Amino acid sequence: MSGLSFRRLAFMLLFAFLVWSSSTGTCHARRGKHWRHSRAASASLSKKKAKSHGSGSHHHGGSKSKSKAPSPPKQVTPPPPEKKGSENFNVLDFGAKGDGDTDDTKAFQAAWASACKVEASTIVVPSEYVFLVGPISFSGPYCEANIVFQLDGTIIAPTNAKAWGSGLLWWIEFTKLRGITIRGNGVIDGKGSVWWQDSPFDDPVDDEAKLIIPLNRTAEQNSPIPINSKLGSKMPSTKPTALRFYGSFNVTVTGITIQNSPQCHLKFDNCMGVSVYEISVSSPGDSLNTDGIHLQNSKDVLIHSTNLACGDDCVSIQTGCSNVYIHNVNCGPGHGISIGGLGRDSTKACVSNITVRDIIMHNTMNGVRIKTWQVSLLLLLKKLDRVLAEF
Ligand SMILES: *[C@@H]1O[C@H](CO)[C@@H](O)[C@H](O)[C@H]1NC(C)=O
Ligand SMILES: *[C@@H]1O[C@H](CO)[C@@H](O)[C@H](O)[C@H]1NC(C)=O
Ligand SMILES: *[C@@H]1O[C@H](CO)[C@@H](O)[C@H](O)[C@H]1NC(C)=O
Repeated sequence: MSGLSFRRLAFMLLFAFLVWSSSTGTCHARRGKHWRHSRAASASLSKKKAKSHGSGSHHHGGSKSKSKAPSPPKQVTPPPPEKKGSENFNVLDFGAKGDGDTDDTKAFQAAWASACKVEASTIVVPSEYVFLVGPISFSGPYCEANIVFQLDGTIIAPTNAKAWGSGLLWWIEFTKLRGITIRGNGVIDGKGSVWWQDSPFDDPVDDEAKLIIPLNRTAEQNSPIPINSKLGSKMPSTKPTALRFYGSFNVTVTGITIQNSPQCHLKFDNCMGVSVYEISVSSPGDSLNTDGIHLQNSKDVLIHSTNLACGDDCVSIQTGCSNVYIHNVNCGPGHGISIGGLGRDSTKACVSNITVRDIIMHNTMNGVRIKTWQVSLLLLLKKLDRVLAEF
């Protein structure tokens, strides 16, 4: 019997060692180049790193690196900037109708193409118009800096399945910009209700609701055949985020309302210097997976003076985030404010320097929490094997 407890003790010591070694080995690696050179990382770990870190940025060798790096866009002999200063580009001047029915996507693309060439230009989306805009990317590797998207009107998403092909991860996207501001008192409306009704139990991003929601609702959710109210055509199972920023510096979102997104409302991925204030996010408390604000691999993020009402986390902070400061936010309905889930499939996840204060939660499932995934026992045993081999 003492033999048994000795083995248990030995196992616990090993386990503690494992936890210690894995945490010392990697978390400071996020600080940059160390990441690549630190320790003889296991194959599985380096795979994950490459994935989650976006890689590429220190990859001087491979010019055709598939992964997109958040590095500032390099100026490859840009066309000479036409003019500098506060030039306006009104989408109506580019053929947008704003009647809520005509597809204005092309007009928005044309307005962007022009605004992109002028530093500190402004795209104007005038009030009292409703613009139907399909999936669109305001992409900026070769754009001038500090563009303003003045949103005073309403932008709505298409609700016919055709517009979404086989499924897209986002609807409106801004990528690789230096200084981008969305401001105004306009609305971005994802028309999500047609999506929420579809395939309600398919949740690739965040399965946790299934575990928490009372059984009586789970049963009701799992009713097998989703009924589409419209046209009989089914929306794709991949639901888009309404507004997403990727790989950009100095991003500001203020004044606007983002509502009824099919999935997450506002997402920042690989961004540095993010400021969100005086915005509203609004969707019903029972709309599945409609996070308010989702942060990933982003640094220096400030969120304040904002109302977040949605069907999932008001703010969700994922791996790779640091220096996040959230204050004076009204959250609810919603699931509260979350860090994680971190470490899915035994991946490494680092999050640091997160401050959350002066939040009013009402009608929320949780308050503030940290969610982590359980370590896979198999992976743990593999690590154990390696550690023993090192002795
Ligand atoms: C971001 O804004 C800061 C402060 O205005 C400025 O110093 C910095 O150069 C900007 N970064 C980029 C990449 O434009
Ligand atoms: C389901 O469970 C919740 C929480 O336990 C309860 O408030 C609600 O009344 C239940 N609904 C039904 C239809 O039983
Ligand atoms: C933590 O984040 C805040 C901003 O939220 C920043 O001012 C501060 O310098 C950060 N601290 C460290 C140690 O990086």
